Amino acid sequence: MANEKVKEYLNTLVATQGLFYVKLHQAHWYIKGPNFFSLHPKLEEYYDELTVQMDDVAERLLAIGGEPYATLEEFLSHSLIKESKDSKNLSQKDTVQSVIDDYEVLRDELAKGIQLTDEEKDDVTNDLLISQKAGVDQTIWMLQAFMGHGALESKK
Ligand SMILES: [Fe+2]
Repeated sequence: MANEKVKEYLNTLVATQGLFYVKLHQAHWYIKGPNFFSLHPKLEEYYDELTVQMDDVAERLLAIGGEPYATLEEFLSHSLIKESKDSKNLSQKDTVQSVIDDYEVLRDELAKGIQLTDEEKDDVTNDLLISQKAGVDQTIWMLQAFMGHGALESKK
């Protein structure tokens, strides 16, 4: 059955996804360069997917008796992804790399949660995290392909 460790884990995930949602808007708004017309709508697709994922995580947390963070202040202090006003000045390539870096943080956190919920025998949360990680893995592969890299290649 779900316990405090799983609740705490899910709450950090809500904060991380909440901040990343805002950060993807920044990239969507400020992206510049020759691929604007493909990247601008693609980034919108990403934040739309992410808000559904955040909602599913928060509602799973509620279903196991937790209390999801629900303010920007809480997201900011608990997110594993960090933001900066300066990111809006990045080149197109650096913006995409920054989105990849953030998705990798999310992927690694989902992997951690899959292991935790396996150990804690919380199959329902485990299933949710596995399906979210499958989507994130695919997104990373596609963004890496856009950059001319293999899915698991490290940057530069
Ligand atoms: Fe828009």
